Amino acid sequence: MKQLKQIELLEAVLARTLEKRRPMDGDEALVSVGSYRDPARFERERERVFRSALNVVTASSRVARPGDFITAEVCGVPTIVARGDDGQLRAFINVCRHRGATVELKSAGNCKRFVCPYHAWTYNNDGSLHRVRHPEGFPTLRAEEHALVELPCLEAAGLVFVCPSPNTAPEALPEALVEELEAMLGSHPRIYASTTRTWRANWKLIVEGGIESYHFKVAHKDSIASFFGDTNSVWERMGQHLRSVLPKSSIVELEGVSRDAWNIREHTHIVYTLHPNAMVLTQRAHFDLVLMTPLSVDSTQIQILTLGAAPERGDLTPQSRAFFEKNHAFSVRTLDEDFSIAEQIQRGLSSGANTHFRFARFEGALSDWRKAIDALVG
Ligand code: FES
Ligand SMILES: [Fe+2]
Repeated sequence: MKQLKQIELLEAVLARTLEKRRPMDGDEALVSVGSYRDPARFERERERVFRSALNVVTASSRVARPGDFITAEVCGVPTIVARGDDGQLRAFINVCRHRGATVELKSAGNCKRFVCPYHAWTYNNDGSLHRVRHPEGFPTLRAEEHALVELPCLEAAGLVFVCPSPNTAPEALPEALVEELEAMLGSHPRIYASTTRTWRANWKLIVEGGIESYHFKVAHKDSIASFFGDTNSVWERMGQHLRSVLPKSSIVELEGVSRDAWNIREHTHIVYTLHPNAMVLTQRAHFDLVLMTPLSVDSTQIQILTLGAAPERGDLTPQSRAFFEKNHAFSVRTLDEDFSIAEQIQRGLSSGANTHFRFARFEGALSDWRKAIDALVG
């Protein structure tokens, strides 16, 4: 992040911290309880929020070399992300153009060609149809019309984004956001630890827990509460995405330090809410990437990945590996505190106790995010 921007954000959070001022920059807002349990609304959300947007799928470093590939479900669409021999990264629907079998079953690998396990139609790693067994059986088949179906795919800030609907033009990532993330994450961060689990909660409860700090002092009293102030943050919308800056208690040390020496990562925790499915939580020397896949109105798969810079040469030292593993375990423990409360909320939705939930005036980011989602869903 540019130094001027760091200073601007740090000045804002420092002033609020010193004046013990909460950010009353939104209106109180009500959201209906039904929006978390209505299956018809959930289907609209899948279509209009997730299927029409660039979803974060993995880190670029997992598919760095020509021939590298991974497979993933992107909002229910089986997908291959592969780097062709030409160095270009592409995404395809992982469904054979003959009779629909899953073309690649492995979760990751390196290959020149994908061979369908049903009748061995073979595709090049750029998706084109390479070979059909016994082609004399298909006199009307035109190979150029039977490539794997390509999906919009983009590499930015060391991350891979895929839109799971072919022939769509998803909204581009704002340049300022890409620049900022790149400076924050480094250009080719590597994945050092990963944990995946399905939680019985609507996906919005998961996101909403990530963009307010009202709960920090209470829900995280046994983990991160002591590092942070109470309900103090500065947030900004960047296109469909959001940057929230949460000051750590150490921010008061900045008083009396020359602004040129201010470093935002030392005294704040920055959270990027990347529309529609990811959160980037920046730590001092690494970051956590939280990827979310909505499975049904009341269940969400969540993958927590801990990423960091690649070592200058060779492999990680045992000390660095232990550092990443320890931090990953701590992040998982902290985030599990959020997700288990989301499960409690989901269980209580049908009780009739509430018709609406209430977002406070100092949770402007939350109301703003929710308003944007509601507008998309209609
Ligand atoms: S379904 Fe793939 S080759 Fe037949
Ligand atoms: Fe939390």
